[in-house]
Amino acid sequence: ETIDLSLTVNGEPVALKIDPRLSVLDMLRERLALTGTKKGCNQGACGACTVLINGQRVNACLALAVMHEGSSITTIEGVASGSELQPIQLAFIDHEGFQCGYCTPGQIMSGLGCIKEGHAGSREDISYWMSGNICRCGAYPGIVAAIEQAAQ
Ligand code: FES
Repeated sequence: ETIDLSLTVNGEPVALKIDPRLSVLDMLRERLALTGTKKGCNQGACGACTVLINGQRVNACLALAVMHEGSSITTIEGVASGSELQPIQLAFIDHEGFQCGYCTPGQIMSGLGCIKEGHAGSREDISYWMSGNICRCGAYPGIVAAIEQAAQ
């Protein structure tokens, strides 16, 4: 059985018929071809799938799409304005806040949430409030420095 779902993704209206078990992550990647949002663990442990839903950071692998009727979702594809990168994206480049890059979309989305929540006042705060986003390459010093810069 499928269910009708309407919501907004990166400012665009989306209407889908979905299986009620579909996660937001699989909806984005497999139904909308928005593959910038990454699947790491698929169980809420790594943060690679972080998106903003109504401005709040959410692990998309743990969120059921059906629960988000009418929501506004922002993914990494919705951060830049056309080809113009946003300050947090430029800051990740400036500080080399990545190595392989797999966790980077989630780090940037979570970093945006962290700043918006007022949790980016110091490097200690940033490390604490970004602790749900794992980087296997260990690029943490650059990630924290980038978010600190973007928060200014
Ligand atoms: Fe969602 Fe790891 S893929 S937290």
